[in-house]
Amino acid sequence: MNRRKFVQTIGALAPLTTLSKNLSAFEGNVSQKKSIVISTWSGNTKANEKAWEQLIAGKSALDAVHQGVMVPEADPEDMSVGLGGLPDRDGIVTLDACIMDHAGNIGAVMGLENIVHAISVARLVMEKTPHVQLVGDGALQFALEHGFEKENLLTSKSKKAWKAWLKQSQYNPMTTVEEIEKRIEKNHDTIGMLAIDSFSNLSGACTTSGMAYKLHGRVGDSPIIGAGLYVDNEVGAASATGVGEEVVRICGSHTVVEAMRYGHSPEEACKIALERLVKMKGKPYCQKVQIGFIALNNKGETGCYSLLPNFTMAVRNEEGSNVISSKSLL
Ligand code: GLY
Repeated sequence: MNRRKFVQTIGALAPLTTLSKNLSAFEGNVSQKKSIVISTWSGNTKANEKAWEQLIAGKSALDAVHQGVMVPEADPEDMSVGLGGLPDRDGIVTLDACIMDHAGNIGAVMGLENIVHAISVARLVMEKTPHVQLVGDGALQFALEHGFEKENLLTSKSKKAWKAWLKQSQYNPMTTVEEIEKRIEKNHDTIGMLAIDSFSNLSGACTTSGMAYKLHGRVGDSPIIGAGLYVDNEVGAASATGVGEEVVRICGSHTVVEAMRYGHSPEEACKIALERLVKMKGKPYCQKVQIGFIALNNKGETGCYSLLPNFTMAVRNEEGSNVISSKSLL
C-alpha cells in the first residue's frame, strides 16, 4: 500500500491525532532497522550475547531469541528458569515458555516437567503442530516424541530452598515484592527477550519456572501470548516479568504494543500498561507486587518501566552491551 492510499484508508477510520501517530509507525516500518536484542534483567547479558552472535551471523531474530533464552534455561544457578528453577508447592519444577515471530506465528508450553529447554518445545509447537499451546503431560509427551530427554530439574540448591520454604508450613507463594526481591538478588526473574534482525524482522521469547512454590498447575503470564510476550512486526514487541497474575490481568505485553501502535515511545508504552493496573487495582494493592515490562519498537528504540524500583533491562547492539535501570511508577 502506498502512502497516499494508506492515508485515504485510515483517514476514513481514525481521528487526526491517531492518524498522525499511525503514520509515524508506518514510516518506521519501511526504514532499515539495525539489529538489537533486549532482555528483562541485567543478569541476562550472557543470554543477550548469545542472541547477538546469532544476529551478527545473519540468523533470524527468531533464532536469536530462541538461542538466547536457552542460556539461562541451561544454567543450574539460575533459580527462575529451566534447570534449577524453584519448584512448586509440591517440590515439582514446572516450566512455562512461549515464542512469537514477525509473521504472527506462536507456540507455547505450560506446566512442562523434566525438560530443560521449554523454549525449544514451544518453538516446535509453533512449527510442527496446528496448535499454539500444549500443557502438562501432553506437552511432555510431545517433547519426548520429538527427541527431548527427560531430566531432573530440581537441583540440590533448589531442593534446599524448597525444603526451607516448607518449614514455614503455610501457603505463601512468591507474590509479594519482598519475595520477588529475594529471588532477584541475582537480578533475575523470568527471561523475556526481544530482537530485531538484519531483515528488519522482530521476534520474542519468554521462559520461566514461574512463581516459586505456586500451586501445582498454576500458570503465570510467561507462556501466554499477549501477556508475557507480544510481537507485531509493524509496531514493535514487548515482554514482561514479575507477578504473572498481574500481567495477565491487563494483557500486559499486548497493551504495551498497542500503546506503541498509537505513537507512544517504548518507555511511555510500558508506563501506560502499568498505570492501567494501578487504576484497576489501586495503589495499596500494587505496592505489594512487582512487575516490569521491556519494549522494542520497529525503529529499534527501546524502553522499560516497572511498578516498583529495582527492575533492569539488558541491551545488546552494535555499540556493545548495556544495562538500563528502569524507572518505576510507585
Ligand atoms: N512472570 C512469571 C510468572 O509469574 O510465572
